Amino acid sequence: MKVIVFANQKGGTGKTTTVINVGDALAHIGKKVLILDLDPQGHAAISLNLDTEPCVANWLLHPIFNASPITPEIMNQWIRPTRRENLFLLPGSQMTAKAQRLLTIEEKPINYIKDQLPAIRRLGFDYLLFDTPPSTGGLQEMASWAANMAVIVSSLDYLSADGVSGFVEMLKVLQSEKQWRGKLAGVLPTFYDEQTRTTREQMANLQAAFPGQVFTPIHRATVLREASAEGLTIFEKDIKSRSAFEYEDLARRLSRLE
Ligand SMILES: Nc1ncnc2c1ncn2[C@@H]1O[C@H](COP(=O)(O)OP(=O)(O)O)[C@@H](O)[C@H]1O
Ligand SMILES: [Mg+2]
Repeated sequence: MKVIVFANQKGGTGKTTTVINVGDALAHIGKKVLILDLDPQGHAAISLNLDTEPCVANWLLHPIFNASPITPEIMNQWIRPTRRENLFLLPGSQMTAKAQRLLTIEEKPINYIKDQLPAIRRLGFDYLLFDTPPSTGGLQEMASWAANMAVIVSSLDYLSADGVSGFVEMLKVLQSEKQWRGKLAGVLPTFYDEQTRTTREQMANLQAAFPGQVFTPIHRATVLREASAEGLTIFEKDIKSRSAFEYEDLARRLSRLE
């Protein structure tokens, strides 16, 4: 099972949009995909036209309240089908923030989330995709440590490169001090608009800071905003759109990375 975390310290950079659409694209090529929403806002559920539910909180807190580890049967109580073939969701809610506070109080170690993955692996998922809240708190660290790779989602709108460097610093600390074996898969520029100077400047900044590690950008597109507002993936909204092509291409690239 490949585990990928999508992150940025900032909100509104296209993380959830990317997770949903990469997840659906991977599902279309026959991969069994679980999206796990660590953001207390629960937007992954809303973007897939499902309800926010405290499933992530229940999953996170299980080891605190139970002596025995999570089994695949217990996991299945919390995993929701999305009515799309091969695509499943562990939905989040405001309770995720409470769960995070409890984990902090209990001083849970960096490997806490990774230790929770065997039950998911045994359910036969090919991919586990972590959507994350806009910060670099304990959950992002634990999710990154559990991941084989991290994708930083960077909006070209304005000075969002700040959010990029914060997350990169965290990854470096995980590698140097906590023996993280994963890697940065790359930086994904979003809200790309070649007409604007900000886009050109930000692209140049990213390429200078991450040579060879900048993915082909996702254009700013109204159809993406409409799709998430309607609870549709881009493939359901408009499979012929440029956005659908861009996300399908990204999913293929990610599936080729080891
Ligand atoms: N490439 C894009 N072009 C236009 N709108 C986008 C694009 N990507 C995301 N959006 C919209 O921007 C808003 C924030 O995106 P979202 O994926 O929720 O960001 P995050 O998860 O990083 O907070 C949403 O309304 C979404 O539909
Ligand atoms: Mg989000």
